[in-house]
Amino acid sequence: MLTHDDNEILCRVGPGTPMGNLMREYWIPGMLSEELPEPDGAPLRVRLLGENLIAYRTTSGQVGVMQESCPHRGASLFFGRNEEEGLRCVYHGWKFDVTGACVDMPNEPAESNFKHKIKAAAYPVRERNGILWVYMGVRATPPALPEMEANMAPDMPVRMSVMQRECNYMQALEGDIDTSHVGFLHGEIVKRDAAEGTFNSFMRDKAPRYEVTDTDSGTMYGAYRPASDGQTYWRVANFLMPFYTMTPTGVLGVDIRMKAWVPVDDDHTLLLSVSCGERAVAAAGNVTPAVHPHKPGFYGRFNCVQDKANDYQIDRQLQKTQSYTGVTGIVMQDQMITESMGTVYIRDREHLGTSDMMIIRTRRRLIQAAKALRDHGVTPSGVDEPGVYAVRTGGVVLPSDANWIEASAHLRTGFVEHPELNRAAMMGSFV
Ligand code: FES
Ligand SMILES: [Fe+2]
Repeated sequence: MLTHDDNEILCRVGPGTPMGNLMREYWIPGMLSEELPEPDGAPLRVRLLGENLIAYRTTSGQVGVMQESCPHRGASLFFGRNEEEGLRCVYHGWKFDVTGACVDMPNEPAESNFKHKIKAAAYPVRERNGILWVYMGVRATPPALPEMEANMAPDMPVRMSVMQRECNYMQALEGDIDTSHVGFLHGEIVKRDAAEGTFNSFMRDKAPRYEVTDTDSGTMYGAYRPASDGQTYWRVANFLMPFYTMTPTGVLGVDIRMKAWVPVDDDHTLLLSVSCGERAVAAAGNVTPAVHPHKPGFYGRFNCVQDKANDYQIDRQLQKTQSYTGVTGIVMQDQMITESMGTVYIRDREHLGTSDMMIIRTRRRLIQAAKALRDHGVTPSGVDEPGVYAVRTGGVVLPSDANWIEASAHLRTGFVEHPELNRAAMMGSFV
C-alpha cells in the first residue's frame, strides 16, 4: 500500500506537481508522424501531462507543438490557419512559428514592435521513425533522445500501435510489470499442448517465483520457473524511467520492443507500443485492438472500439467455454481490468503479495526520484544517459545455479545480433 501523500506524488502529472516535473525532464513520445501527414495540414489537438497542446506540420515539414491558448486573448489555436511556416490565430491574425515566436501581428500598427515581445509557449519536437517526441522541460537545450532500439531499427519490420486508456498512467503501467496475472487474465495464451522443453511448456506453472532489482534505467524483474534437467526458465522484464516497460514474452536477445505509458493527464493515458521483427508484425492482428478514427476534442485520439460503455464487448458464453475473461484480445483484457479500478486508484486499501515485488520497487523508484528532484534538484536517471535505454527483454533458460543478472547480461544488451537463437524452436511456436 501507499500513503495518500505518496499516491498523490506518484499519480499527479500536471504542471508544478513533483511527478509532472520529473516527467518534464524527459522526452515524451506523444504522437505518431502519421497523425500529421502533410505540410500545412490540419492542426491536431494533443493533451500531454495535463496540458492542452496544438500540433501542426509546417510548410517545410517541421512539427510545431504549442499551448492551445493564443497569447493574445486566449482563442484556441486549433482553429488556426496552418500556413507559410507558422500557425495563425484566426481571431485577430497573430501568427507564431515553431519556436513560439510571434512573426506577424497584423492588427497592430506596422511601426509597432509589440510582436517582438510576445512568445507563445512552444515545445521542441523531434521526429524519429514515425514517432514525434516532445520536450516539455525547462532546459534551453533538451537532452538527447533515449536510445530505444525499437524506435531506431528502420531496416526491420515494425509494428506500432497507440490506444487511449481511461485511467492513470501508473495503474496502467503496473499491469504491464505484473507478470503473475498472465496465466489468469490472459489464460488462453498458455498453450497446454506445447511441446515439452519449449518456453510455452514451462508457462503451465502459474506461480513463478520472482527476483527484482534496480537498474541504471529503472527496475527489472526475473520471474523463474523450473525448466528441464537442472535448468531454470527466466522471464526478464523492465521498467525504464519514467514510464516505459518492456515485457518478458518471447526470447531474450531476439525480441525488440518498447511500450510507453504516456500520461495525457491524471485520468487518461496513451499506450504506445512498438515491436520489431517478423514475428511482431505477424502477431499484430492478435494484439492490436481496433480504434476509432480520431474524434474532436482532447480525448479523441485512439479510442478503442471495445470500451467501458459496451463492457468491452464481453461474451459470457465465451467466458464459460474458451477464455478466462470472455473479452477478446490481450490488450483489451488489460484495458478492461485497469480501467475497472477507477481512474486514479487509491492505493491505501490494497493488499500486496510476494508477486507484487516489482510494482513495489518501481513505485518506490519513481517516488524517490520525484522527491529527489523536488527537494535537491537531482536530475533523474536516464535523462542524460540515453544509452541506458538500449536494452532487451524476454525469456531465457539458464543453469539453475547461475546468477541470472550476470548470465543474461549479454542477451539484455541492445543493438547486438544473435543469429544462433531460433525463436520459433525455443518458444515452441512462431508467436
Ligand atoms: S486571440 Fe489570437 S490573435 Fe487575438
Ligand atoms: Fe496483461
